[in-house]
Amino acid sequence: MARIICAGLGPGDPDLISVKSDRAIRQATQIAYFRKAGRKGQARQIVEGMLAPGATEFAMEYPVTTEVLFNTPEYNDILARFYDDWAARLAAMPGEVVVLCEGDPFFYGSFMHLYTRLLGRVEIDVIPGITGMTGCWNATGIPITWGDDVMTVLMATLPEEDLIQHMRQSDALVIMKTGRNLPKVRRALEAAGRLDAAWLVEYGTMPKQRVVKLAEVDGTETPYFAIVLIHGHGRRPEIAE
Ligand SMILES: C[S@@+](CC[C@H](N)C(=O)[O-])C[C@H]1O[C@@H](n2cnc3c(N)ncnc32)[C@H](O)[C@@H]1O
Repeated sequence: MARIICAGLGPGDPDLISVKSDRAIRQATQIAYFRKAGRKGQARQIVEGMLAPGATEFAMEYPVTTEVLFNTPEYNDILARFYDDWAARLAAMPGEVVVLCEGDPFFYGSFMHLYTRLLGRVEIDVIPGITGMTGCWNATGIPITWGDDVMTVLMATLPEEDLIQHMRQSDALVIMKTGRNLPKVRRALEAAGRLDAAWLVEYGTMPKQRVVKLAEVDGTETPYFAIVLIHGHGRRPEIAE
């Protein structure tokens, strides 16, 4: 029976990899990671210089297609087949395979698509990681939640009305997958009366890290590794950003 170890890598700075993941990565003879075709891949980049000599690498490249649009049922079918195929290939590998995953594997991680397919077929060990958002709010230098604060994590891909509703109800906010959804996020924050409190963190804990107030940003797009944050105040007005 194959054994799959999913190593959470943390937000990007290799020094933030856990001791347990670090050990698994350095000892691995087979390593697999997701990446976009033609790119090195963020997960692979984080572990640069850590792999054992002779380790076999498996780049699981997301399917690209020019005929089918993203987020359509057709594309979702293609993606499901891609995960089916890799789950079967990993399950058939002899011995241990370490799968790399940015942040924490069970927090919106692509690995979860393999995990659900592999459960019961192989032995699986998931090593937790520091999430990207943790790295990002630490990068702002301001505590994220106090006392009774309610924190909500939102995907910028949600409909605008849903974003506005959650933005109005929560104290602290984390908005992920901003990318091309930035104008929608900005409009929703404005409608909820919270734009001025929002921070944008790009490439949190990585060499290209950028931390700015969202209201001071002109662009209509962010990189893939970007998070918008609003800090809670513990529902006490004297603690402000
Ligand atoms: C598919 S989710 C993966 C989350 C990951 N499993 C985690 O625990 O953080 C990808 C999104 O996480 C956010 N993200 C993860 N790491 C980040 C970082 N270091 N800086 C900024 N955003 C990050 C971005 O919003 C990105 O679009």
